[in-house]
Amino acid sequence: MFRRIEDIGSDTVTLWIDKREFQVPAGISVAAAVLLCGFDKVRDTPVSGSPRLPYCMMGICFDCLMCIDGVPNQQACQVEVRHNMTIDYQRGAAELPQQE
Ligand code: FES
Repeated sequence: MFRRIEDIGSDTVTLWIDKREFQVPAGISVAAAVLLCGFDKVRDTPVSGSPRLPYCMMGICFDCLMCIDGVPNQQACQVEVRHNMTIDYQRGAAELPQQE
């Protein structure tokens, strides 16, 4: 479904998406990596539970919110992949850290 229009090098990084290991090209966004790996959603909406995928790929729509390295509400299209990054679906609304 998706293909790259230009080659940006042969370096790869290892990612853990939904607890599964993947090798993806270095330098791409987390959203691009998730789409490249064939996932059919990145989050569920808080109200209806509808699945969502990245849409705009430029930080506008917020449909790409994911939990990246344990931090929820990250815009996957705005984060570059790093070696051994852990990426998980975001299910509904993420909890905010409690203030003391
Ligand atoms: S895909 Fe639209 S904000 Fe990330």
